[in-house]
Amino acid sequence: MSGIDSHQFHDLHPDTENFRADVLSGLAQPRKALPPKYFYDARGSELFEAICDLPEYYPTRTELAMMQSSTQDMARRLGPDCLLIEYGAGSGRKTRVLIEALAPAAYVAIDISRTALRQCAAELAAAYPRVKVAAVCADYSRPMDLPQISGIAPRRRAIYFPGSTIGNFTRPDAQAFLRHARELAGAGGAMLVGVDLKKDPARLHAAYNDAQGVTAAFNLNLLTRINHELGGDFDVAAFEHHAFYDPVEGRIEMHLRSLREQRVRIADQIFTFARGETIHTENSCKYSVEEFAQLARAAGFTPEHCWRDPENLFSVHYLTVAA
Ligand code: AVI
Repeated sequence: MSGIDSHQFHDLHPDTENFRADVLSGLAQPRKALPPKYFYDARGSELFEAICDLPEYYPTRTELAMMQSSTQDMARRLGPDCLLIEYGAGSGRKTRVLIEALAPAAYVAIDISRTALRQCAAELAAAYPRVKVAAVCADYSRPMDLPQISGIAPRRRAIYFPGSTIGNFTRPDAQAFLRHARELAGAGGAMLVGVDLKKDPARLHAAYNDAQGVTAAFNLNLLTRINHELGGDFDVAAFEHHAFYDPVEGRIEMHLRSLREQRVRIADQIFTFARGETIHTENSCKYSVEEFAQLARAAGFTPEHCWRDPENLFSVHYLTVAA
């Protein structure tokens, strides 16, 4: 642990991402694909924030409204004096709403990005001086133990994972991830997870194909990032954003589609693209309430309650682990 004034900081030294190796191997596959975690450079994070405010992108505002209207019920179910653990550096408004209603014994943010994590922990420690705040730099998608957070005796652990980020895992990966979360929550623990619901495909299509083209810019920024950081020579104007709902897989797929036959050089490797060929950049899985509850059960949780907004767009599941 290294101390900075306002909060405890534990560095578990996660494997640093290997952008270059992942890009080269992803583009060498017969069906080219890149991991969505690479969207979030400084520009990509800015574009994602802009997406969250778009009129077509309902998830962020819907989940926030649900947190505001149901936070007392959530806090009552989670109970007092818990150790609230958030996956992701949650400086966001939803986290604040929950912390205010819950008054946890302590709040721990877990994130792989040291900079975002330190900023989030410092801001929350300043905003809530009575809550002990800790930050753990780790890859939460893998099994992990929580370091000892000194000076607290929580009643239970409660994991918070908002934003339907779980939808960016494939279904098998989401189940494996939930199993790790259940182990981290431990006996008697709980999890609150935001999950985007299946709905009218036209509504989903609009959310990932906004009129202002912000989602397109977010997707295409991945090529700009490769050019800047890996010395690639993508002609970004020769690709287009392509996002569609696949009803069989129950997910939005985002791709970058080549507008012509072309060759792209990255480092010393050449990648050829046929006209119309795509790079698969993201899945965003959508669940029914029962489907997600089943996934949670298969991972060892008991689904106790699910909140939905009046339009049935978004869900927040409350899951528990047997004591
Ligand atoms: C971060 N994640 C939950 C977003 C989503 O909806 O899957 C990322 C995103 N991709 C395009 N728009 C938003």
